[in-house]
Amino acid sequence: MQIKSAEFIISNTDPAKCPQDGRPEYAFIGRSNVGKSSLLNMLTGRKGLAMTSSTPGKTQLINHFLINGEWYLVDLPGYGYAQRGKEGREKIRAIIEAYLAERMGLTCLFVLLDCRHEPQKIDLEFIERLGENEIPFAIIFTKSDKISKTRLAENIDRYKARLLETWEELPPVFISSSENRSGRDEILDYIENINKELKQK
Ligand code: GTP
Ligand code: MG
Repeated sequence: MQIKSAEFIISNTDPAKCPQDGRPEYAFIGRSNVGKSSLLNMLTGRKGLAMTSSTPGKTQLINHFLINGEWYLVDLPGYGYAQRGKEGREKIRAIIEAYLAERMGLTCLFVLLDCRHEPQKIDLEFIERLGENEIPFAIIFTKSDKISKTRLAENIDRYKARLLETWEELPPVFISSSENRSGRDEILDYIENINKELKQK
């Protein structure tokens, strides 16, 4: 899919104030610093569109971006950032929960995982809850430029095996790097296909 336009629409803490026009919506979630905002910039080809930072906790709001005038990409705050303190973490947790509970237009939630790490409890629990709440999701392993191909394959196999302990089937899995743009075509094709299916309905 070609990205012809990508525009920032609105930032919110309240899901009720997010766009209500029924356009398909794809959101990025994951731990702070996993690379959500960078991925949004990489996919759209607009470097400064979503704000990124090497310090975790940069994105604190629900940010809607309208793509090609037809669908939304949503940059969410990251979960689990310890430095934020209990109150700060709780605030972000509440925003994420409210978003997931209230956004009926959410077509697919992309859960981002850092490909360098072992399966982490906080991510596994988050994914578990998506299942319980029947929220459609896919997984994106980020920062693939940071490790060797062999390590990458090992880590992803380990993650898949871990997920298969609780899931009968794996969700769609993508591998990305915002540094060398790998994964871009696959993720955009995936979104394009879903958008096409939705149009036919
Ligand atoms: P929060 O908004 O704090 O939740 O973080 P985030 O998930 O939006 O992460 P962000 O995109 O701000 O990236 C965090 C840091 O990781 C930045 O320093 C990015 O440059 C770096 N980064 C993100 N993606 C990649 C990647 O694919 N490869 C490399 N090498 N670095 C990346
Ligand atoms: Mg961010």
